[in-house]
Amino acid sequence: MPQIIERDGLKKGEAAVITGAAQGLGRGIALRLAEDGAKVALWDVQKDGVEETAALCREAGAADSMTCLVDVGDETAVKAGAEAVLEAWGTPYGLVNNAGIFSRLTVLETDFETWDRMLRVNVTGCFLCSKAFGPAMIEAGRGAIVNFSSGRALSGAARAVSYGTTKGGVLAFTKGLAMEWAPYGIRVNAIMPGVAETAMPLAATNIEELRSRGSRIPLGRIAQPEYLAAVVAFLLSRDSAYMTGQALGVNGGALTVP
Ligand SMILES: NC(=O)c1ccc[n+]([C@@H]2O[C@H](COP(=O)([O-])OP(=O)(O)OC[C@H]3O[C@@H](n4cnc5c(N)ncnc54)[C@H](O)[C@@H]3O)[C@@H](O)[C@H]2O)c1
Repeated sequence: MPQIIERDGLKKGEAAVITGAAQGLGRGIALRLAEDGAKVALWDVQKDGVEETAALCREAGAADSMTCLVDVGDETAVKAGAEAVLEAWGTPYGLVNNAGIFSRLTVLETDFETWDRMLRVNVTGCFLCSKAFGPAMIEAGRGAIVNFSSGRALSGAARAVSYGTTKGGVLAFTKGLAMEWAPYGIRVNAIMPGVAETAMPLAATNIEELRSRGSRIPLGRIAQPEYLAAVVAFLLSRDSAYMTGQALGVNGGALTVP
């Protein structure tokens, strides 16, 4: 018999783990959850960046913060990071699998190691982090996971084949896990951003060119991290308590990534 929890969600003082929190969307998500009064566990491979995010989260009103150097594609590191969170705060309510990497190589330019690394960080990372907190969330009978996919999961693009493949994997992982863990009161949803103003797209262009893509987006601008963070906050909150296995496009109305 499925466990029915009416309108449960992340409450003030409860914990959420955010991967890839040193910059970009991860930092924006951490700040938003901190403003909402959550405890934030910030994971990344960049030490200075996560510590800076932690300081900003404390200023923003976080109930507490902790940082951990975790490569989400490394099972040992993920297990150690999860143990640190569980020991310090008990079971977190939220997990945001945001960490991700991009490759602009064509298929013929992509060697096996690069392909493998893309899958390991973007897809296996979601699997390892979800699995690390799964038993505790199942025991608690509540929790919410948000996975970062991309518009590229739906619209193919040259020089984004390995990336799009991983983000398609994130969608399938999200939908399957949502079905497996729904009976335990755990919701699993995905976000598909379009273009956001972060280091990821800026690695291949400059800020003026990136912002100019906004003219090809129905809402007339590329995303700022807080736009995505607001949707993460919603997907962790009691307002989305009847949603699981969904993939939300947060893209200013762009049906293909400009
Ligand atoms: N920015 C966009 O336009 C855009 C569009 C669609 C999807 N996304 C997705 O949103 C998520 C966040 O992207 P972003 O734009 O903030 O990127 P970003 O490159 O600015 O930040 C990614 C963060 O993840 C961290 N990271 C990378 N590999 C890691 C690993 N193995 N373990 C732990 N942390 C790791 C990086 O250190 C960095 O702090 C990603 O999953 C990305 O694919 C972004």
